[in-house]
Amino acid sequence: MDKIGCGVIGAGTWGEAHARIFSSEPYSELIAVCDLVEEKARHLAQKYGAKRWYTDIEKLLKDPDIQAVGITTPDFAHREPFVAACQAGKDILVEKPLATNKEDLEAMKDAFQKSSSRVMVDFHTRWNPPIVIAKESIDKGELGELISMYYRLNDIVYVPTQMLSWAEKSSILWFLGSHTVDTLRFLSNSEITRVYSVSRSKVLVQKGINVPDIYQSILEFENGVIATIENNWIIPNTNPHWNDIKINILGSKGMINMDLTNNQAIERYLEDKSDHPDILIMPLIHGKASGFAHESIRDFVNRLYAKQEFIAGFEDGYRVSMVVFSLLSSAEKKIPQEVTYD
Ligand SMILES: NC(=O)c1ccc[n+]([C@@H]2O[C@H](COP(=O)([O-])OP(=O)(O)OC[C@H]3O[C@@H](n4cnc5c(N)ncnc54)[C@H](O)[C@@H]3O)[C@@H](O)[C@H]2O)c1
Repeated sequence: MDKIGCGVIGAGTWGEAHARIFSSEPYSELIAVCDLVEEKARHLAQKYGAKRWYTDIEKLLKDPDIQAVGITTPDFAHREPFVAACQAGKDILVEKPLATNKEDLEAMKDAFQKSSSRVMVDFHTRWNPPIVIAKESIDKGELGELISMYYRLNDIVYVPTQMLSWAEKSSILWFLGSHTVDTLRFLSNSEITRVYSVSRSKVLVQKGINVPDIYQSILEFENGVIATIENNWIIPNTNPHWNDIKINILGSKGMINMDLTNNQAIERYLEDKSDHPDILIMPLIHGKASGFAHESIRDFVNRLYAKQEFIAGFEDGYRVSMVVFSLLSSAEKKIPQEVTYD
């Protein structure tokens, strides 16, 4: 069996998730890792059995054994590796969001349209079992006509203050809001036409990180559905997991509620701490990478191998970015914004 030779560009937190899957699936093999910092590239490559590591993207893309790349550079740094990978004809799994400014987004669209590359955007919430079950229920009409959705997706304050060195160059709307927007499009089978967002800056600015803490937003969809979303990254670090996720979906004949992080499926009480271990996002089960955040990367490999359509493609990433631009603009101008997609 010929394996798909894979490279990872960006050897940080999420580069490791890509490397873990590429190196352990039957249809893929981790060939090389690239990072601006050689030590990080070398460490990740050696940890997951890749023979080569680079500090230059072009060198990785010229590696004849590499057919596909995972792009896991920071939110604001996807354009350079993405455009170069398209030009080299590599297939791509790019992390969300595609881009954080319109110039980068258009350059990526242009490169994608001129290339033969197959592209998946890693909107991994589409592999989250409760979300998939809710989607099936909506699609079967069990909830009747969809009326409204509420989606709260927040991060603990550790994320912008300690985990990400580049939080100021992104936004919680890019980092998590992009997932929120994509998931609601996925669930409603409809596009967002108008948004109104309000933000506040207090906690992070006081800590010297010049980026808003929170966005509360209302979204209107083409099919008449309305949604309220909340994205903040100032949740206390004592929250049971990195994320705080609550969802409500209301239809004319039914309702679905989800509490995806404070679930009580497992409670662990030790002498000096208690917690609710992650069972959904990315647990290792008998050493195997499990959970929806790993499943999306695995699905990229499997669908690439089987030549099947991806569950989240370039157009999804493009549309989500356009919605986030409108949310940011609405929060800045303090008025609702129409969303345009070209
Ligand atoms: N951390 C998470 O929980 C998480 C979850 C899902 C998705 N993501 C997404 O994954 C992406 C990466 O996030 P992260 O948390 O791993 O960031 P990170 O800061 O941990 O890692 C990014 C790495 O990219 C490297 N890099 C930057 N520019 C580069 C370039 N031009 N060429 C090669 N390497 C370069 C940096 O040196 C760094 O090692 C982001 O888009 C993020 O939104 C992160």
